[in-house]
Amino acid sequence: MCGIVGYTGKDSALTPVIEGLRRLEYRGYDSAGIAIPAEIGKPLFIEKRSGKLKNLEDALGKTPKSNSGIGHTRWATHGGPTDTNAHPHLDNEGKLALIHNGIIENYEQLRYELEKKGHKFKSETDTESVVHLLSDARKENNGDLAAAMRQVCKQLKGSFTLLAIHADDPTHIVGARRNSPLVVGIGDGENFLASDVAAFISHTKKALELGQDQVVDITPTSIEVTDLSGQKVTGKEFEISWDATAAERGGFSHFMLKEIYEQPKAIADTLIGRLSGLDLKIKFKKFNKIVIIACGTAYNAGLVGKYAIEKWGNIPVDVELASEYRYREPSLDKKTLVIPISQSGETMDTLMALRYAKSKNATILSVCNTNGSTIARESDAVLYTHAGPEIAVASTKAFATQLIAMYLIGLEVSRKLGTLTKNEIKQISEELNQLPAKVEQILETVEPLRQTTRKFKSAESVLFLGRHVGYPTALEGALKLKELAYMHAEGFAGGELKHGPIALIDQGTPVVAIMPTSGSLLAEKMASNIQEVKARGAIVIVISESDFAGADHFIRIPKVNQLMQPVLSVVPLQVIAYEMAVARGNDVDQPRNLAKSVTVE
Ligand code: G6P
Repeated sequence: MCGIVGYTGKDSALTPVIEGLRRLEYRGYDSAGIAIPAEIGKPLFIEKRSGKLKNLEDALGKTPKSNSGIGHTRWATHGGPTDTNAHPHLDNEGKLALIHNGIIENYEQLRYELEKKGHKFKSETDTESVVHLLSDARKENNGDLAAAMRQVCKQLKGSFTLLAIHADDPTHIVGARRNSPLVVGIGDGENFLASDVAAFISHTKKALELGQDQVVDITPTSIEVTDLSGQKVTGKEFEISWDATAAERGGFSHFMLKEIYEQPKAIADTLIGRLSGLDLKIKFKKFNKIVIIACGTAYNAGLVGKYAIEKWGNIPVDVELASEYRYREPSLDKKTLVIPISQSGETMDTLMALRYAKSKNATILSVCNTNGSTIARESDAVLYTHAGPEIAVASTKAFATQLIAMYLIGLEVSRKLGTLTKNEIKQISEELNQLPAKVEQILETVEPLRQTTRKFKSAESVLFLGRHVGYPTALEGALKLKELAYMHAEGFAGGELKHGPIALIDQGTPVVAIMPTSGSLLAEKMASNIQEVKARGAIVIVISESDFAGADHFIRIPKVNQLMQPVLSVVPLQVIAYEMAVARGNDVDQPRNLAKSVTVE
């Protein structure tokens, strides 16, 4: 949800700023812009363009040589995706530039007061109020931009990451954060500020976390972090564990395809060293229920988690959409374990639900993929997934590792509550260990599915059916198709079909059916559901571990413990969505209207 990058150092700033924006474009691609100091005291050089970063790059003519600069890639909230609304925004002298991620809730009031004082506004954004405010505050603070930023942050309501640069003091870049991400990249004679470490990973692996309501002032050789009262704060340094190649496409046509193929490794990395127990420092015995909160794909992983944790741990588990949770005053207390699941660790809806749960004294155990993210930092304990950087907007390998985290938590609960025997735990652990190889097996045989998928590229809608854990998997399959192919798609529980959704079936409607483990009662029921849709003209694509006579198209997956089946059955669904998006000429890695990390409510 908007990518932000700042560079100050020894090199020409343009290259690291544009490179950073390219790596952050997954966060939003409604527009892109940069600000670079031209000459001390003269207006800044600004270029900004609506649409993807490519438009900005094409528009960049001769740029002034400068060793500092800031850049922004936008996911529009206030004001449409136009050139004028693109960031950076400037003060009236054109010497102060500001970029922003988040929402300033009191911007209208601020704008009203600033206009009365004579400030001229050009855009419809909430951000522009802040640059004018900052401009006045800088004057009041004798040109001290960091002091001005502290003063301004105290006046702002909402969530933000802000970065500012001034033409009179071009080596300094000042940043601030509240509820939105900002990290410092610590270089040698150069420093970076960015929404995500991916922006500077090819330059340095040393980073610094910033806390809530902190202001940072970087120059090529210094980093000063303060709280809003101006007190110095020592930030937490960390080493980035992956390298720049992880954030490159590496021969694949799209990041999404690469990430689909990285799933066996991501699963193995998430399992490693954890099957004998988790070091979580949480007293599981004190809880009488578990609540999982998440959004989008992470929510679907949570739904699968419910089946596994309840079955193995014999404890009630609710799964809640984070955006709904706190608004209905749910019943929870210190006996509740709340598990937020978030790839980015920055999703605002999830963060707000987490804070609500904390205020009710619940214990928070988050499942995150991003080290040092806000959700991770605000939790009592974190189980990190080791998916590595996920760049494609549609989540694939992060989902697979979130499922693994659910199984690991289920096992841990059962271990701590004594609900499974040692032998049962051993058996489940062995089955988990076999998952990477089984996913690999599916990936080796998906080619025909890509051909099949293309046949349905003009379908009006596609339905996904599943039972038990196949139901959340069906939801995930439908979500992927909506996100990527912009097609109407819905996931249903097989048994629910006859209660309404069957009316959607028409001659030729593609239905993707996920068969439960063969031989089970559920498999029989599902077989009937498939016959019901076929009788009404549907074309059925069956995902199953054993042959299925009535299938129009058949995709085999390896045999597996029913609870773990989503790890396997989701893979063909990801491939279907990917292939459909390609066939329809869509932008796979950056689907329209979406952003990977949604940092507004
Ligand atoms: C956005 C993304 C989804 C993602 C959801 C939750 O909507 O487009 O792909 O599942 O946010 O993200 P999180 O980072 O919290 O897992």
